Amino acid sequence: MAGRPTTAPGTPRPGMHTLTAGRGLLFGGDYNPEQWPEHVWDEDVELMKAAGVNLVTVGVFSWGRIEPEPGARDFTWLDRVLDLLGSAGIAVDLATPTASPPPWMGHRWPRTLPVDESGHRLWYGARNQFCPSSPVYRERALAIVTDLADRYAGHPALALWHVGNEYGQICHCDDSAAAFRAWLRERYGDLDTLNEAWGTTFWSQHYSDWDEIVTPRRAPYIVNPTQRLDFARFSSDALLAHYRAERDILRERTPDTPVTTNFMGLFKPVDYWSWAPEEDIVSNDWYPDPADPLSPARTALTHDLIRSLGGGRPWLLMEQSPSAVNWRPHNLPKPAGQLRLESLQAVARGADGLCYFQWRASAFGSERFHAAMLPHAGPDTRIHAEVRAHGAELRRLDPVVGTPVPAKVAMLHDWPSWWALEERGRPSDRLDLPDQLLRFYRPLWERGVTVDLARPSADLTGYALVVVPNLYLIDDRDAAALTEYVRGGGVLVVGPFSGVTDPRGHVRTGRFPAPLREVLGASGEEWMPAPEDRPVRCRWADGTGFTARTWTELVRAEGAGTVATFTEGDLADRPAVLRHETGEGVAWYVATIPEPEGLGELTVRALADAGVTGVLPELPPGVEAVRRGPVLFLLNHGAGTVEVPLPQPSEDLLTGSPVHDRVTLAPRAVVALSPLP
Ligand code: GLA
Ligand code: GLA
Repeated sequence: MAGRPTTAPGTPRPGMHTLTAGRGLLFGGDYNPEQWPEHVWDEDVELMKAAGVNLVTVGVFSWGRIEPEPGARDFTWLDRVLDLLGSAGIAVDLATPTASPPPWMGHRWPRTLPVDESGHRLWYGARNQFCPSSPVYRERALAIVTDLADRYAGHPALALWHVGNEYGQICHCDDSAAAFRAWLRERYGDLDTLNEAWGTTFWSQHYSDWDEIVTPRRAPYIVNPTQRLDFARFSSDALLAHYRAERDILRERTPDTPVTTNFMGLFKPVDYWSWAPEEDIVSNDWYPDPADPLSPARTALTHDLIRSLGGGRPWLLMEQSPSAVNWRPHNLPKPAGQLRLESLQAVARGADGLCYFQWRASAFGSERFHAAMLPHAGPDTRIHAEVRAHGAELRRLDPVVGTPVPAKVAMLHDWPSWWALEERGRPSDRLDLPDQLLRFYRPLWERGVTVDLARPSADLTGYALVVVPNLYLIDDRDAAALTEYVRGGGVLVVGPFSGVTDPRGHVRTGRFPAPLREVLGASGEEWMPAPEDRPVRCRWADGTGFTARTWTELVRAEGAGTVATFTEGDLADRPAVLRHETGEGVAWYVATIPEPEGLGELTVRALADAGVTGVLPELPPGVEAVRRGPVLFLLNHGAGTVEVPLPQPSEDLLTGSPVHDRVTLAPRAVVALSPLP
């Protein structure tokens, strides 16, 4: 499935800098003019200018308008939209419209429609109704992308390409099964190797002919976990192959225009580590739930992931909501100031563009109750006033454009390990990977410690602390690299149920975690999920206690020191947390899921081992602190007004005011502090 390279190796690709040059931070949103009569477009553009909008995404769902019947083309309306935006100085992020083929495609070629694991075809009438492996979909999609690129190459408004939308469609149809078999042949070469990898001696699943292999469709009982793991890998790759095919057409015609596709944070079906290098700009859609008290930390984690996917380069917040969404069962609005707080949180964590879904609220369709920058009620509204004020104040943040967000701590995350971990038939399905990541992330975030996310094979030498909340599946090389990292002076924290399987998802036999046993100086023999209604009590060596939940393990020290023990039941006095000094470094193992207080204490100790401190020595609860380039951002997510002591006199770029020893932050207040000479 490898696409051909379109630029000579070493040729620098255009990136975020090509967009921000002369514009500063980008501000705008999805613009769907096809939902409105043309006279509204003029008003849109006037209001966009007044709001400081300098980038809009156009055409995401315009396939039916451009190609109203198979083979037809109508670009005239889009010409007028791009001309109008271009003459107003608003840059266009032009989307390939391939996320939603028109009904004529599914009607004439039902095999282009995706099929779920039960064999049900998913129909048109919504969006995403395509099979990534359908030859007809592929051919028609590439044809319209080619014509779109030919038409708008060189258009002065074209600044960025937006390929498809939120890739994630999974398909189990016969075309997908054939493509899956081709992918498996490439991976395994022959059937014996596949049979061994899939463990087909179990439950009589031996394959004697490639044609017998199908996608992991609905079956009477628990489906082969390796078949499902490989299908998850394949599905991510099949979507990527389609993305690359579209991208290559765009790059060939407009080599100087950057290309992106919008991600969705910790979105399970797609391995973004393999996708991100295929983009010029990493962009993300992110919709924090106003009803979730953990939203600020979850959002920070997500932003750190997106920045890390791009190797630390500035990224684009492609979509956020100015207020409520409409797709949760009960949709709370964002209180006054929240729009600004969340947008600036993204800037603080490396975003150089802040865009919304969407510019003007739809009057019809499935998203008619989704908030927009321009509400149904018009410009004389509190939401639009907040949008305008925010658009204006972003101009004050020019000093951060293009600057990095330095981190001394890395947290490892791997999609195949996530897929394998959350298969059915494990000790407990209460061990959820995103929750585990957030649990270990929170105490770092609360202390103003910036974190990069990294894949297990990443070069970790620049980090003083590496946190592994869970790596259920790990390959030998990555385990050896972690061992070397610690020997060379790194500090490593490993959470429970890690190092369990090899890349095929086969349990590594022997005491666990087999490939990390030596570096951890500890090993275990039994995973012991705990009753949900009972906290697990643990004790540090000094006698103080903490509680844990859900998960325990029977482990023993083999060189490590036991720093906390369980206190009750069969595990009484056995290790719950271990610390191993080895080589020049230190490795920690956590054999349970401590509640925030216990994990906070553990984090303080691991940070001390690593010599890492937060960006400020003292932070009131609820205040996020992060340094980007020369600027220290402080964001108050808490419900009360707080004072934060400051190490040096600074100017708040957002207001232009000087601040000296301390700054007062009302709820939802943000300051962007640039040191005064
Ligand atoms: C049943 C089945 C066995 C095995 C066990 C597991 O008894 O007959 O093959 O699956 O359940 O509990
Ligand atoms: C996603 C999509 C948009 C829109 C928004 C609504 O991010 O990309 O088209 O549906 O959700 O929240």
